[in-house]
Amino acid sequence: MEYKSTNMLHESQSGACWWERGVIYQVYPRSFQDSDADGVGDLAGIESRLDYLAELGIDAIWLSPIYPSPMADFGYDVADYCDIDPMFGDLTRFNRLLAAVHARGLKLLLDFVPNHSSDQHPWFVESRVSRDSPKRDWYIWRDSAPDGGPPNNWISDFGGSSWEWDDTTGQYYLHAFLKSQPDLNWRNPDLRDAMMAVLRLWLDRGVDGFRIDVLWHIIKAEGLPDNPINMDWTSDRTQRDRLIQLYSTDQPEAHAIAAEFRKLADSYGDRVLIGEICLPDDRLARWYGSVDCPQVHLPVNFHLVETPWNAASLKRMISDYEASLPTFGWPNWVIGSHDARRIAARVGEAQARVAAMLLLTLRGTPTLYQGDEIGIGEVVIPPDRVRDPQDLRQPGLGIGRDRSRTPIPWDASAYAGFSTVDPWLPLNDDWRVRNVAAQLPDSNSLLSLYRSLLALRRSHDALAIGDFMLIDSADDVLAYMRRYAGECLLIAMNLSDKTRPLSISQSLFQLLPTDACVAEVLASTLIPPTISSSKLALRPLDAALGPNEGLVLRLKEIR
Ligand code: GLC
Ligand code: MG
Repeated sequence: MEYKSTNMLHESQSGACWWERGVIYQVYPRSFQDSDADGVGDLAGIESRLDYLAELGIDAIWLSPIYPSPMADFGYDVADYCDIDPMFGDLTRFNRLLAAVHARGLKLLLDFVPNHSSDQHPWFVESRVSRDSPKRDWYIWRDSAPDGGPPNNWISDFGGSSWEWDDTTGQYYLHAFLKSQPDLNWRNPDLRDAMMAVLRLWLDRGVDGFRIDVLWHIIKAEGLPDNPINMDWTSDRTQRDRLIQLYSTDQPEAHAIAAEFRKLADSYGDRVLIGEICLPDDRLARWYGSVDCPQVHLPVNFHLVETPWNAASLKRMISDYEASLPTFGWPNWVIGSHDARRIAARVGEAQARVAAMLLLTLRGTPTLYQGDEIGIGEVVIPPDRVRDPQDLRQPGLGIGRDRSRTPIPWDASAYAGFSTVDPWLPLNDDWRVRNVAAQLPDSNSLLSLYRSLLALRRSHDALAIGDFMLIDSADDVLAYMRRYAGECLLIAMNLSDKTRPLSISQSLFQLLPTDACVAEVLASTLIPPTISSSKLALRPLDAALGPNEGLVLRLKEIR
């Protein structure tokens, strides 16, 4: 084995907070449940499905944006940070939903979008009127370059220049995403105050925290210098990747803003801040801040979405990520989102079960994306139904996000019980058989596996908050130990579709109190597990993992 930190034990220092123990479930409101026959999900729809979520066994719900929005980027273009889009409901509806979530002992997190607003936001409308508008400096306006072109070479994440010319005042404004999503100027103290007031308003309304959209973009380098050219760019990559976003993202001042958010959240007690940050480990870890000056509680770790799906790559990634964390920093994991490709589409149906086990047994807070628990796979979106602006602007790259945003199929009735009309995006082709109602009673279903793993996590502190150690294992096998207060769990997963030995190295036995031990199977991705008896001797190690099998074993000393 070449990776180095095999034997490194990652101890959990705290583990007391709900957001450390808990599991977050991402709801994409447009596609969860429609209640008013417009083909788009809404807050009343979410409320009607809360029992499903409570019984699934998650702890917190994160809602993608529900604010008034022209929906150019489906809610990530906010026209009013303080209200609810009529498509989703209104504030009364929101308060009901929040109360219903809390009544079930769950938490509710909102999506906060600080980097940019919609061009329909009254702030921007006012900002663009004249060069001396009181809101002018709330956005980032610049003169053209001497040749009349944009002020610098920055490229929007959705393709094309990050600058849009505005005739009214003869200047360009900056937009990291669509031109209808102008970037806010976080160097302006009044804008800053206004955004802090937004956070306060929702915290006062009782929300339990925020997922903060593209946090690492929030402030740009003084002087807006050109970004360096990425020499490794190839034409199969997005236009964004032509440049290295050295001056447009991850600035030191952004960390100070994160610390300010944290101070505010902490003044409300038990709230959580989750920062959407796509950066390599060393720079990601900085977003935890320090013990004295903490930043976000959870800088989002996207590595499971990005790492090639094989044991060697995953081991290296997990070990590097764990090693990068500050001692007080709590890890987190994600395998799907409204932006990423569906996990079942990426790794296939059998490995989607292994992915479920991995997500729910690694050390750290998991975020589960709606629909992944029933294994929605690739959904081919017919060209005339594509809605994602990123896909429409850069077609042919396979980066479309609609395929992960299709409505939840609840049952086999018309429109899958999601709506009574044709939904805004098509359903998964196999919705008549792959739906929640079909999977609930089926003990072999992915949904049942998720439910049992979530229950296991709840009843075993070793999984929720225990220490973590990777264990040397056979090729294609990923194995680690979780330990808490005398309980020791071994998780072993076969990333291949062939039988593999469960040959666990000496490093594990060195950790155990005695040589002799037996194991009890607590969970398996295969039903029944390859290991036939419920108890097996781990020494000698003659056991095998079936194809695509993942196991959670409890190790017990023989007395
Ligand atoms: C985040 C969101 C994505 C959105 C982008 C711009 O990455 O997850 O959906 O398009 O920010 O707001
Ligand atoms: Mg609706």
